[in-house]
Amino acid sequence: MKPLSAFSDSGGGIAIIMLHGDPFDRSMWRDQIEFLSTLGYRAIAPDLRGFGENVAQTSVGEPAEANHRLKSVPLSTMADMAREVLELMDALKIDQAAICGLSMGGYVAFEFVQLFPARTRALALAGTRAPADNEPERQARFQQVEQMLAKGMGGIAEASLPKLLAPRTVAEKPEVVARLREMILLADPQGAAAAQHGMAARRDYSNDSVNVPTLIIVGRDDPIRPVADAEFMHARIPGSRLEIIEDAAHMTNMEQPEIFNRALLDFLSRLTH
Ligand code: MLT
Repeated sequence: MKPLSAFSDSGGGIAIIMLHGDPFDRSMWRDQIEFLSTLGYRAIAPDLRGFGENVAQTSVGEPAEANHRLKSVPLSTMADMAREVLELMDALKIDQAAICGLSMGGYVAFEFVQLFPARTRALALAGTRAPADNEPERQARFQQVEQMLAKGMGGIAEASLPKLLAPRTVAEKPEVVARLREMILLADPQGAAAAQHGMAARRDYSNDSVNVPTLIIVGRDDPIRPVADAEFMHARIPGSRLEIIEDAAHMTNMEQPEIFNRALLDFLSRLTH
């Protein structure tokens, strides 16, 4: 496995590694990188395997039995992504980092803290959830994979935008809508398919013990990973903090960057050095 080769790395101080969702790339963290890197943090955001400039990273893996419809589809597992984040930390000589993941990035963060607890300073989990997919959800992923491989990302972008963004964002922030649409359209269908495959195969994180300071963020209007998913994690992760962001759906950090940034900064600033 090669360390992730495409990443942003700005500022100095406590490291925070930001992991994007699917089918996005590291540019979704632009506002957070700008904000944190000027306030004494080292803000790092990689393109996870198969995304952004790391499109060559996907590899063909062994599909799980339940995923027979994906036999020929490459597999990017959440655990492999977590291992690649560790390799990036090693390459950058970072001993410990706060890991912040949105949605799929949150699954990778769950894997990371289990695999490498000593390297995890804290977790920030946004728009994500602990349980694995149920069978209908897996089937829906397989349909998406078939669609993206056959027709590209256009249909996915148009179908998903109204769920990713709150009505207020769509009405009042056309630049956010445009940025997100462009990000999805630029995604590599093979890479996104491999991640869908990996998410379908991911394990249930509900009973993992998470013993690091944890911030949970959710958009009040998120239909994909609703508030109940965040409350479930909040109830299970000892001492965790929950931040519900109004007028945001799935892409809280892009829709309400000031509120997201403040919540993150407040959380990070309470970590003892
Ligand atoms: C994401 O935003 O990363 C996806 O919605 C995650 C998922 O499909 O579970």
